[in-house]
Amino acid sequence: YERQDQRLPKQRLLVVANRLPVSAVRQGKDSWQLEISVGGLVSALLGLKEFDARWIGWAGVNVPDEIGQEALTKALAEKKCIPVFLDEDTVHQYYNGYCNNIIWPLFHYLGLPQEDRLSTTRSFQSQFDAYKKANQMFADVVHEHYEEGDVVWCHDYHLMFLPKCLKEKNSNIKVGWFLHTPFPSSEIHRMLPSRRDLLESVLAADLVGFHTYDYARHFVSACTRILGLEGTPEGVENQGKLTRVAAFPIGIDSDRFIRALELPQVQDHIKELKERFAGRKVMLGVDRLDMIKGIPQKILAFEEFLEENPEWRDKVVLLQIAVPTRTDVPEYQKLSSQVHEIVGRINGRFGTLTAVPIHHLDRSLDFHALCALYAVTDVALITSLRDGMNLVSYEFVACQASKKGVLILSEVLKLSNAFEIMFIQKD
Ligand code: G6P
Repeated sequence: YERQDQRLPKQRLLVVANRLPVSAVRQGKDSWQLEISVGGLVSALLGLKEFDARWIGWAGVNVPDEIGQEALTKALAEKKCIPVFLDEDTVHQYYNGYCNNIIWPLFHYLGLPQEDRLSTTRSFQSQFDAYKKANQMFADVVHEHYEEGDVVWCHDYHLMFLPKCLKEKNSNIKVGWFLHTPFPSSEIHRMLPSRRDLLESVLAADLVGFHTYDYARHFVSACTRILGLEGTPEGVENQGKLTRVAAFPIGIDSDRFIRALELPQVQDHIKELKERFAGRKVMLGVDRLDMIKGIPQKILAFEEFLEENPEWRDKVVLLQIAVPTRTDVPEYQKLSSQVHEIVGRINGRFGTLTAVPIHHLDRSLDFHALCALYAVTDVALITSLRDGMNLVSYEFVACQASKKGVLILSEVLKLSNAFEIMFIQKD
């Protein structure tokens, strides 16, 4: 979308995503601290400038009382954000359960949960019911704030039911839906008991977008094979209505990173880091602590490197920023213990009294510290086992303006990421 005439007001856009760009942390009874949310979706959409955009989403906290809800709504309004308040049980069934225990692993080819994982929440059906209920709650908030002419842009696997809920009430709303993860082959999608409902609902949108042509093709072929609908070069036809389907490889606001490198506080950080790691090559991983990111595999590969190349043992350090995520989901808890165990063993094995080979941080870094870290890094390791589009690799390249660092990019990202990175480098 490009605004043809810069004098005209910007198009109003309602961005609807499960997570708002800021997450709330309760400070006192009615006061909140807002922190930038972590994840590819937020990083990608922070660059939206052509629109007069408002976000609608969950603020990441349970706020049962009305006074608290009012206070948070007011604080978020300053950031052009509108909260959807989800109760604890809905979050458990919809977010922890259906979204993160079922769709997320399935869309990344990790299969459906085994019995033990399913029974830790409730049955599949009740999780799907909660998913639909939550999507309806998002739709209600959209309707409340919708003004004629607005474009509503729904995001990600949390909200596949939303296009249908929106169109049911008002068929004139312009609705787009974009997926930030891979869309799997129809062979995988057909494993989902609710496969038909989800596809039909997404098709209620006017435009459906994916990161790559392959994901778009998988979606169209799932509609053909599962719903028996015809795929055309433009999209999918359903009872005379065409839903356009296309690939829109998402990027980052690279200027934001490039500009940050010039700030005095970032320069100071860079100086400190250079002194701290003088004489050692810096390898860096920045990921949410998610099974798709290949963090244990990355650390084990680093161990093998140290084992086979003893001359490198005091000349290289691996900094792994592993931001905790979805910590109420048992699979993520298991991953966290596994990673801690491996890091402890390797540091015990190769560390000395004065240095350890791996610095593992269980938290995110603030934006300026992160830019400085990217700038001093010699080798960035992006080892995803499967990923929609990895934005950390872009951020690293954007911050490497004056330095020839190396990006080691997992083979699975070759088709999506490698292409976009060429553009950032060209700029
Ligand atoms: C991925 C998803 C996003 C999600 C992010 C962080 O990038 O595509 O929709 O917001 O992970 O995960 P979380 O569950 O913390 O929102």
